[in-house]
Amino acid sequence: MYHAAVLTVSDRGFRGERSDEGGPLVAELLKNAGYHVAVTAIVPDEQAQIEEKLREIADSGEVQLLVTTGGTGFAPRDVTPEATLAVCDRLTPGIPEAMRYASLQVTPRAMLSRAQAGIRKGTLIINLPGSPKAARENLDAVLPSLSHGLEMLSGRPSDCARLDG
Ligand code: MTE
Repeated sequence: MYHAAVLTVSDRGFRGERSDEGGPLVAELLKNAGYHVAVTAIVPDEQAQIEEKLREIADSGEVQLLVTTGGTGFAPRDVTPEATLAVCDRLTPGIPEAMRYASLQVTPRAMLSRAQAGIRKGTLIINLPGSPKAARENLDAVLPSLSHGLEMLSGRPSDCARLDG
């Protein structure tokens, strides 16, 4: 069973002015897909704090998957993608490409997500938008294929020819 972390990025959520709906929903979706959600956390839309938390979680070696929700849009304080790029060793552009491709079938505004994904050491980091609806739609688009990527990341031999995700 893969271990996952969910990091909510939200100023208002961090200050307790708004309840965090996106994080718990993402955690639920991951649990339903067979992941053990070992870590949940919330940080404000501050690049340094997002980077620090991403590094802390990824470098703990506790999780293979780290999903963020929030801060991927155009608002001046939306800096989750920049924090993600700063901490990743390798990018995995196919994941945000697939999320935006699937999401464009739902809304043309999907083009406004600047979500990134990449690998830091043994952890795959994926950005999702902040609204629960958008987070769910984006995660649904990639979740079935992630376990194969995590298998390869862990160094386990894996057969790419299988077609079940
Ligand atoms: N993707 C899907 N599937 N569904 C949505 O409703 N909303 C878009 C986009 N991606 C959306 C979506 C909008 S309106 C924005 S601004 C961006 O995600 C970024 O969202 P964020 O700022 O909450 O991270």
